[in-house]
Amino acid sequence: MSGLISMTFRPLALADLVLLHEWLARPHVAQWWGPPPSGAEVEEEYGPLLDGTGPHRAYIALQAGMPIGFIQSYTPVACHGEGWWLEEHDAGVRGIDQFLAPADQLGRGLGTAMVLAFVSELLADPGVTRIQTDPSPQNRRAIRCYEKAGFRAVREIDTPDGCALLMYYDRQV
Ligand SMILES: CC(C)(COP(=O)(O)OP(=O)(O)OC[C@H]1O[C@@H](n2cnc3c(N)ncnc32)[C@H](O)[C@@H]1OP(=O)(O)O)[C@@H](O)C(=O)NCCC(=O)NCCS
Repeated sequence: MSGLISMTFRPLALADLVLLHEWLARPHVAQWWGPPPSGAEVEEEYGPLLDGTGPHRAYIALQAGMPIGFIQSYTPVACHGEGWWLEEHDAGVRGIDQFLAPADQLGRGLGTAMVLAFVSELLADPGVTRIQTDPSPQNRRAIRCYEKAGFRAVREIDTPDGCALLMYYDRQV
């Protein structure tokens, strides 16, 4: 199923922040992404990502051209200053975070297709050595989705946001 779903990504734009604000307030997103932020908080957090040059890159995921979710990548070694990923020293590692926006589309393979397509785009860069993601250990749906996309659970870790299950997708040689 996932292999038949076509997903594309476009960089988050200023005009998307209103949509992102609305998506982050949806209960199925807030349950795992954190309390809904205000519009000003969305601008503060995601505004600096809009030029696409920093260690965090944010995208709108599109299915058949329609916005269906949000996905971001980050470089763990660039996040040490904020207390994240202190044990990761490989500058080639990328991390990903994501959610689907329509609550009625969960559990139908879309998330697996989105993650597979995004991982493929990240690995097109030969400098990328590994992809990581870090769901809550309680988020069984997300963990199952990432396993289906090829990630393996590594260990539970402490992060500034609490306990997380570190999962790796290793580059196949
Ligand atoms: C996480 C998310 C992107 C996954 O996308 P999705 O389209 O729902 O996932 P998929 O349908 O591809 O795969 C989900 C799998 O989990 C399974 N699943 C669902 N609920 C589950 C549960 N409570 N326990 C175990 N497995 C569960 C589904 O059956 C499916 O596995 P299967 O195909 O083997 O049957 C999406 O659910 C989402 O956006 N959730 C809300 C926000 C969120 O949790 N974001 C991730 C933060 S790390």
